[in-house]
Amino acid sequence: MLHSRRILLIISGGIAAYKALDLIRRLRERGATVRCILTAGAQQFITPLSAAALSGEKAYTDLFSLTDESEMGHLRLAQESDLLVVAPASADILAKMAGGIADDLAATALLATDKPILVAPAMNFRMWGHQATQDNLARLAARGVRRVGPNAGPLAENESGMGRMAEPLEIVDAIEKIFAADALLSGRRALITSGPTQEPIDPVRYIANRSSGRQGHAIAAALARLGAECVLVSGPTNEPDPPGVKVVHIETAREMLAACEAVLPADIAVCAAAVADWRADAATAKLKKKAGAVPMLKLVENPDILATLAKAGNRRPKLVVGFAAETEDIVANAQAKRARKGCDWILANDVSPASGVFGGENNTIHLVDEHGVEDWPAMSKRDVGDRLARRIAVFFAPKAAE
Ligand code: CTP
Repeated sequence: MLHSRRILLIISGGIAAYKALDLIRRLRERGATVRCILTAGAQQFITPLSAAALSGEKAYTDLFSLTDESEMGHLRLAQESDLLVVAPASADILAKMAGGIADDLAATALLATDKPILVAPAMNFRMWGHQATQDNLARLAARGVRRVGPNAGPLAENESGMGRMAEPLEIVDAIEKIFAADALLSGRRALITSGPTQEPIDPVRYIANRSSGRQGHAIAAALARLGAECVLVSGPTNEPDPPGVKVVHIETAREMLAACEAVLPADIAVCAAAVADWRADAATAKLKKKAGAVPMLKLVENPDILATLAKAGNRRPKLVVGFAAETEDIVANAQAKRARKGCDWILANDVSPASGVFGGENNTIHLVDEHGVEDWPAMSKRDVGDRLARRIAVFFAPKAAE
C-alpha cells in the first residue's frame, strides 16, 4: 500500500503518456497522493485536464506561467513529495537530467530535489540503444536514480524492440519496493497520543484547549510509513484518522491514560497530546442558571500520561518521547521537564511569538536527550513527524537507518 505517500509524477513526451493516466489511477487506488507535471511534449499526447481529473490535484505545466508561484513554487512541488516518478521518461528528459539542465518546470523540479527519483523510460529502440542514452542512464544510475523497464515489444510506428514503457502495474510495484526498503521500524510497536482532552463540567459543558492534533497525527503517520505498528490515542480533533494507523478515540485524560495502558507493551511512546492538567468535579445533571449565583468549579489534578508511561517499570516502552511548549529558556526548561517526567527525549517546541509557531504551519523543535540538544530548523508538522520517525529508527538500529 502507498498510504499517505506523496508522489510527483512527471509525464514527458511520448505515446506512452496515455499509460501515465492509468498509473495515476492505480497509485491513488493504493492511497497515494499524486501531483503531475506535464512537459510540453506530454501535452501533445494527453491534456493537463485529464491528469488533473484523475489525480484530483492541479496539474502543472510551465515554469514561467506558474501564476501561483508563491502558493506552489517548483521547489515546493518537489520538496513536498516523497518520490519523483518520471513516466514516461523520454530520451530527451533523461539527457536533461544527466546534464543538469533546468529549462522547464519538469527538468527544474528534477534538479531542485534531494528526494528519490524513479524513471520509466519509453522511446524508440534505436534511441534506447544509442550510446548517448546509455551513457546518460549510467550517469543517472551512479547518482542513485532508479529505473523500471523499459520492456521489449511492439513500439510506435509498427516497429518493435527494446523501449516500451513498463506497464503501470510494474511501475506501481517498483514504487512499492522503494518504500518497502524504508520499513526501518517494522516489527516495532508505537503508541502516540494526540489532540486535546475534553474534561466535562456537566453533561453538556466541558473544559478543553486549542490543540489541533496535527503534530501527533503527523507523527503517527510518519512512524507507520516506516513500518511501525501504530496505535494513536486521540482526543477530539478535526484531523482524519491517519491511514495504516489504529486510532482509539477518547475524550478525557483518564480515558486517554486507560487507552494508553491497554496498548502496552510497546517499543515507542510519543506523547504529543495537550492533556488537560485539571478536570472538574463534574456534575451529573446540567448546571442551571440561578440569579446572582455563579457556580464554583472545583478542579482536580489529572494523571500525567507521559510520566506514567515513563515510570511504568517493566512495562515501560523502550523509548518514551514527550513534548514541551516553551516561550523562554527553552532548552533549560525542557531539560528540567525531561528529568521530572522521566522520559528519554523531549521535543521542545518554541512557541514564543517571534517563532511564529502559534497558529502557524511550522514547528521549531529542539530535541533534548541525555547527550544534549539538537536544534532543528523550522519545518512543517509533517516534516517534524518524518524527522522524528527517522531519529527513532536510528535509535533502534543505528546502522540500518544511516
Ligand atoms: N502530558 C501528559 N499528560 C498530562 C500532561 C502532559 O502526557 N496530564 C505530556 C504532553 O503530552 C507532553 C508533555 O507532557 O508530552 C508536556 O508537559 P507539560 O508538563 O504539560 O508541559 P507543557 O504543556 O509544555 O507546559 P508547562 O510546563 O507550562 O505545564
